[in-house]
Amino acid sequence: MKAEEKSESQSLYREAIKVLPGGTSRNMICRKPHPDYVSHGEGCRVTDVDGKTRIDFSNNTASLVHGHAHPRIVAAVTEQLQRGTAFNLATEAELRFAQHLCSRNEGFEKVRFMSSGTEAVMAMIKAARAVTGRSKIAKSEGAYHGTYDYAEVSQKSKPANWGSEACPASVGAAQGTPQQALDDVIITPFNDVDRTIELLDQHKDELACVLIDPLPHRIGLIPTSHEFMKAIRQWTTENGALLALDEVFTFRMGYGGAQEWYPDVCPDLTAMGKIIGGGFPVGALAGKDDFMSCFDPTRSELPLPFSGTFSGNPITMTAGRVAMELFDRSAIAEVNQLGDYARKEISEAIDRSGAEACVTGAGSMFRVHLKAQPPVEYRSAYQDSDELRKIAFLVKHLYDNGFIMINTCTAALSTVTGKAEVDQMIECLETGMVKLGKN
Ligand SMILES: Cc1ncc(COP(=O)(O)O)c(C=O)c1O
Repeated sequence: MKAEEKSESQSLYREAIKVLPGGTSRNMICRKPHPDYVSHGEGCRVTDVDGKTRIDFSNNTASLVHGHAHPRIVAAVTEQLQRGTAFNLATEAELRFAQHLCSRNEGFEKVRFMSSGTEAVMAMIKAARAVTGRSKIAKSEGAYHGTYDYAEVSQKSKPANWGSEACPASVGAAQGTPQQALDDVIITPFNDVDRTIELLDQHKDELACVLIDPLPHRIGLIPTSHEFMKAIRQWTTENGALLALDEVFTFRMGYGGAQEWYPDVCPDLTAMGKIIGGGFPVGALAGKDDFMSCFDPTRSELPLPFSGTFSGNPITMTAGRVAMELFDRSAIAEVNQLGDYARKEISEAIDRSGAEACVTGAGSMFRVHLKAQPPVEYRSAYQDSDELRKIAFLVKHLYDNGFIMINTCTAALSTVTGKAEVDQMIECLETGMVKLGKN
């Protein structure tokens, strides 16, 4: 009998495709010929139901900053589980976590919790509309901000439909996206101050907010420039729009988020998710009281009715608080240093392998590109079918040899990843790049 025929994952998948479209609720976990099913995770390692253990560099798409089953988080959540998981009463767990998050960033006067990053970005856009009374938003071409109709416009536009560089087209990510949603989203070229300001000026009385990710993964994991961030801050202030920062992916960059890279810029609203849930579903929106008060249900004329059955549930609040307390300044410095080390070593491995490749990223995240030069905006980050095939080969080579990456060949390190694991992964990456050269 072949090894494949004995695979427990394969037989689970055969059952899964009968009840789940494509066998899954998450596109991310799809692998060919089938996804592997997890048995358990511990620290930086994950073991599947067939007994194979791999080192996890994806950490559930950058959402587990302390790896799997951290004992302090498990203990705190277990204690809360025994007292109940969700109530129509307030919980102290929510209050204590809100206090902690607000203490991390001066701009966070108030915070509101929800259950995903998508929801946090949606709440941010709706809050900007409620505060300004305007309906349009602007965002960078190619930036991923979750799956709210407005936030996902042009997240994956292609050469055939992306329009001119000076005035990128608004392209729906999903078939059937209402035309009104496309008309209400102004797409701007990433980090291009002059063209962006020109486009914003054309809609200056209609824009509720400009949505920015400080390190957009899909644009190549390259930072939003300081010059761009400052220019947008100035433009939004002068034109009565809000600066809406999506830190769902990047809050791990600094104690108060990646926004610490821009000390002279304070966003009006910040959306968070991923790591702040300590491994549980989460979203949060924070900002100045003036703006956050649109959520205040005690107001007689509530500008923004916003509910969520599991928002602020005590399991997420407990796990999130413990995880974020553990993620203090010294833990952040250490994991970011490991990221610096990984990027430097990967560059050297690329040189040795002779591959046409480069590495981008910041802090605890990096992304390997099969391009000679790092991308500078979405169009140069765009991967044609040949590049997609090669990246898939590299990610599979790593996976088959025991390393789990995000499928763009991106990694998000955790505080329990060590230098030894990074070294092992890079050695494997190098052999993969050498093999690619021969294919
Ligand atoms: C920048 C950014 N915004 C929003 C989201 C959506 O978060 P979630 O998957 O929790 O809905 C993501 C998810 O990857 C993200 O990277």
